[in-house]
Amino acid sequence: MPQRKKVALIGAGNIGGELASLVARRQLGDVILVDIPDKEGVAKGKALDIAQACALDGFDAKLKGTSNYADIKGADVCIVTAGVPRKPGMSRDDLLSINLKIIRSVAKGIKENAPGAFVIVISNPLDAMVYEMQKVTGFKRNKVVGMAGALDAARFQHFIADELNVSTKEVNALVLGGHGDSMVPTLSYCTVNGVPVRQLISQEKLDAIVARTKAGGGELVALMGTSAYVAPAAGAIAMAASFLLDQKRLIACAAPTDGSYGLEGIYIGQPAIIGAGGVEKIIEVELSADEKALLKKSAEAVRGLLADAEKL
Ligand code: NAI
Ligand code: 2OP
Repeated sequence: MPQRKKVALIGAGNIGGELASLVARRQLGDVILVDIPDKEGVAKGKALDIAQACALDGFDAKLKGTSNYADIKGADVCIVTAGVPRKPGMSRDDLLSINLKIIRSVAKGIKENAPGAFVIVISNPLDAMVYEMQKVTGFKRNKVVGMAGALDAARFQHFIADELNVSTKEVNALVLGGHGDSMVPTLSYCTVNGVPVRQLISQEKLDAIVARTKAGGGELVALMGTSAYVAPAAGAIAMAASFLLDQKRLIACAAPTDGSYGLEGIYIGQPAIIGAGGVEKIIEVELSADEKALLKKSAEAVRGLLADAEKL
């Protein structure tokens, strides 16, 4: 008898709740929503609330809220949002010391209870958190990834579509590098159904769109007083679905560098094929001299973050 897949969501806050709803509604599997003991009620409440929507919206999924890591046993996918989000005026990197401790304890729980899982990290600062997750779990490097490129590209796609008044579905975009101010939106790979975006939008406007994409997280923090959670959850769900359904989608994500783009030993945003094997292949695209220089700078920023993490 086929069994439903099991998706463990570590962190039952804003993104965790959104993820639980998407996993259930898209019928990707049963959901275990984990939070700290103080927030167990929130985890249980969100699970129950979504379960009670099953009858109305016509989806089948079992959902459970818990603070006990033993409940994630056998999870196929773990999506990690545990930590604190950015508050106005706080940079992603300011989060490092708080979230590093949290990620270390979460990684221990995953290692002990779900050693076969594909782990998608969302917590910030992303490139350091995903690196730490792989280090502490010791899982194969292609079974631990970070979600950011999907979100950053989606923001880029939205701004382009909005400018041209075309469907977002027609817009392709690729954002490389660290999930921070140093990210590299690549205009050369941004097309509207194959038409290079440079033929459609002036360079001045494109520069403004690139700048807005890079500041996309901060724009939402300033508006809402906390970080975005709908599009971030959608980004992680695209990655989880590609793994669970072996879709082999090409999605930019924080993936390990083993020589790709001339980089070694870090996690940084690169285009990756995600299938049943996890990150099955990194795709190296040709970059302009400017893009190469920006990616190198971004890698230095990520290395700086890792060096700071090393001291904590
Ligand atoms: P939130 O504050 O709503 O939820 C975080 C949850 O993690 C809280 O419920 C908290 O109790 C829980 N938590 C803390 N320690 C835990 C532990 N040891 N085990 C289990 N749960 C624990 O925050 P939100 O909005 O869901 O954001 C989560 C993280 O995602 C933040 O670090 C945020 O900066 C990051 N983020 C990353 C994005 C990306 O593109 N990678 C985009 C948006 C947010
Ligand atoms: C975002 O990009 C803050 O990383 C978070 O929305």
